[in-house]
Amino acid sequence: MAVFCGAAGNKFLFSGQNKYITSWWPDSIKKALMDPSSVDNSSKEESTKLRAYLPPFLKPESLQHFIPVMDIMAKEHLNQHWSPYNEVQVFPLSKKYTFALACRLFMSVRDDSEIENFAKPFALATAGLMSVPIDLPGTTFNRAVKAGRLIRQRLLALITKKKNEILEKGKRVASDLVDSMLMDGMTEVEIGNKIVGFFIASHDTTSTAITFIVSYLSDYPEVYNRVLEEQMEVLRCKEAGEPLRWEDLQKMKYTWCVACEVMRLAPPANGSFREAITDFTYAGYTIPKGWKWSGVLDGAYNAQKSEILPGSREI
Ligand code: HEM
Repeated sequence: MAVFCGAAGNKFLFSGQNKYITSWWPDSIKKALMDPSSVDNSSKEESTKLRAYLPPFLKPESLQHFIPVMDIMAKEHLNQHWSPYNEVQVFPLSKKYTFALACRLFMSVRDDSEIENFAKPFALATAGLMSVPIDLPGTTFNRAVKAGRLIRQRLLALITKKKNEILEKGKRVASDLVDSMLMDGMTEVEIGNKIVGFFIASHDTTSTAITFIVSYLSDYPEVYNRVLEEQMEVLRCKEAGEPLRWEDLQKMKYTWCVACEVMRLAPPANGSFREAITDFTYAGYTIPKGWKWSGVLDGAYNAQKSEILPGSREI
């Protein structure tokens, strides 16, 4: 496996699929999460199809609808889980918030107990994603496989229910991601695989980003004060209780710079996987066809410009 770190190597790997490489997921991810009976469960195809859904879901027009929901849920979350306490654990709480948000935006699930029904097996499944894929009782991977099966069962029941609602009510406008996949004619199993993929891709990344932002803000009070000042300015221009809108986000220029700088110093995603589909040479190194690649988004590298990660050669 070739491990890429540094800006140029990562840019080459991640700035879009090129003719030398394709996406690839390790067996542990595929076996724990994907339905083995699904016809298109080649990880390359899965990844490509998953990516195809990203731009329509995250395009600005869609995000505009999500912002008031995110804001209202964030306020409820803070009132319930942060404000009453003198001390809180930011990472578990950020996960709680982002998971509930994903349940709402992906599949309109709002009920706390229903969210928990997905959150518990999901935590077990993610713990096994990077484990050795040997399915023996008692291993992290075995727990992840079982949890993955449970998540898919529960998702399938939910997706079937939503499909029946669409058919019965003749619904034409999608309320969430599952609806839009159903309206595109995807099967329940395909949708289940994709929703699991979306959960994995969005959950730890966003909660890690939130956690590091809070951590850096507490380390740099002068930055915290400027962020607070900008947020208070946005608040002053709004009616009492009015939720955040797209236009308000455009005013958060300094806050956004802080978020970007935190993600540069402490990247929320560790990296991603690629496979060489042909022999080729990059920066003087020959990469044979079939070699696996991993891009390492290394915050320490960004912060200190350290030369090479232990055990890897920078390309
Ligand atoms: C701070 C937040 C996030 C960060 C830092 C992040 C980072 C990344 C990175 C580095 C990749 C790999 C790119 C590549 O291999 O070319 C990726 C892929 C992806 N992300 Fe995100 N992401 C974030 C949030 C989200 C959210 C909110 C969603 C969905 C709602 C999402 C959905 C996806 C999907 C579907 C993929 C493709 C997965 C694959 O094919 O392997 N991400 N993300």
